[in-house]
Amino acid sequence: MPPKILVVDDDRHTRILLDRLLARAAAVSLATDGAEARRLFAADDYNLVLMDQCLPDANGIELLREFRARRPRQVGILMTGFADVRDAVAAVREGLFDYLTKPFDDLEALEAVIGKALELDRAYREIDGLRARLTTCAGMPAVIGQSPAMERVLGQIRQVAGLDTTVLLEGESGTGKDIAAKLIHALSARADKPFLEVNCGGLPESLLESLLFGYEKGAFTGAGQANAGYFEKAHEGNLFLDEIADMSPKLQSSLLRVLQDHSFTRIGSTQPRKTDFRLICATNRPLLAEVKAGRFREDLYYRIAVVTVRMPPLRERQEDIVPLAMHFLEHYNAKFGKSCGPLTPAAVLALESCRWEGNVRELQHCIERAVALHAGGPIDRLHLFPAGEHVEQAAPAAAAALGYQDARAEFERDYLRRLLDGAGGNVSEAARVSGIPRQNLYVRMKRWGIVTEK
Ligand SMILES: Nc1ncnc2c1ncn2[C@@H]1O[C@H](COP(=O)(O)OP(=O)(O)OP(=O)(O)O)[C@@H](O)[C@H]1O
Ligand SMILES: [Mg+2]
Repeated sequence: MPPKILVVDDDRHTRILLDRLLARAAAVSLATDGAEARRLFAADDYNLVLMDQCLPDANGIELLREFRARRPRQVGILMTGFADVRDAVAAVREGLFDYLTKPFDDLEALEAVIGKALELDRAYREIDGLRARLTTCAGMPAVIGQSPAMERVLGQIRQVAGLDTTVLLEGESGTGKDIAAKLIHALSARADKPFLEVNCGGLPESLLESLLFGYEKGAFTGAGQANAGYFEKAHEGNLFLDEIADMSPKLQSSLLRVLQDHSFTRIGSTQPRKTDFRLICATNRPLLAEVKAGRFREDLYYRIAVVTVRMPPLRERQEDIVPLAMHFLEHYNAKFGKSCGPLTPAAVLALESCRWEGNVRELQHCIERAVALHAGGPIDRLHLFPAGEHVEQAAPAAAAALGYQDARAEFERDYLRRLLDGAGGNVSEAARVSGIPRQNLYVRMKRWGIVTEK
């Protein structure tokens, strides 16, 4: 289904231009004033509203605000004459998606901004869809991922979850191996049976052994009473062994025997007990390399790596960053009882264009910190990346005399101007140097009136 876009403008030329530009890929509705816009908005669900700031019977900013009050996820773009930019900037801070200055002299940049807005709408809808699905299947962890890399992983997980095969999850720290293991459990036929999880790297060998095998009364000093181990407790369910590469050679061979025989004996007992669990393992070091280095048993490796799922690092799925950030934003709002958000365009842009070195856990911490420290309202780039070093480094004396937001704007303008100078006026080169995608850069330079005609 093509996205639905509502264009509100009293200027006939703007309406015609936008209609022509957008009608190829979207269903466009046109309104000439506030009253008509209200009627159309009430009757349909729009992916995007393009709103003129000065309407004969309404103020565009207020009308967008009104729409947002009725539909908090409404993505809007304010179209404004150059003279009104100050109001527009204030509105953007309030969480309106973006603003465009009229007249539109660069259609490519215009399309880029609209494309971004539609992406934001898609991300919002994805999260909402997920939430709806979550409320219907309790206990299902919300695994966010719309990138091709994550789609592949989720497809693999869906395929193997229902089978009883052993699954090995490989991936860097914080890529989501834990949550993937829980998802496999939740999607398996064993979902209503126990899910037990132990970190093999976190315990001394003897403790891990007694935790897994259980023990009889008096098996060792301190064994005051008999205790069932995880092999027993996970019967008919799933057992998740995290950091499997850290398991000692001795336990590796005991585990291999348990997997071969489907039986084990408690410590201090000679009586074999049957058990039927499905094993899920995780490692952040490639296990085959551990085998080659002689640190992990090859025969055990082939037992547990029946299906290997590789969790891609976040830098290989840049598209997931914004949806994940929104997901964590909701999570921490609920947890801390706050209402922070939405992400401002600058924040979205920063997340999309940054070279994210960390994984999902680091992103989660970044959002947690932002929500914890923020009283409420839109989350801006500096709430996410608060170092502030840019602002302070650039013209400290001048910055001190300005408000924070203005100082930041000052910095951006100054930075972009110098960036473009350094690149000899070539926007593509400036994009390469700064790591900011060219179209985004162009829109931003245009916003500050820096950009030269192409
Ligand atoms: N795709 C995802 N959707 C939602 N939340 C995620 C996703 N991936 C990871 N998370 C969250 O990010 C955090 C880190 O993920 P997780 O603990 O699963 O990583 P891990 O690979 O097990 O890391 P480690 O190797 O350090 O144990 C968790 O809070 C998890 O819920
Ligand atoms: Mg983990």
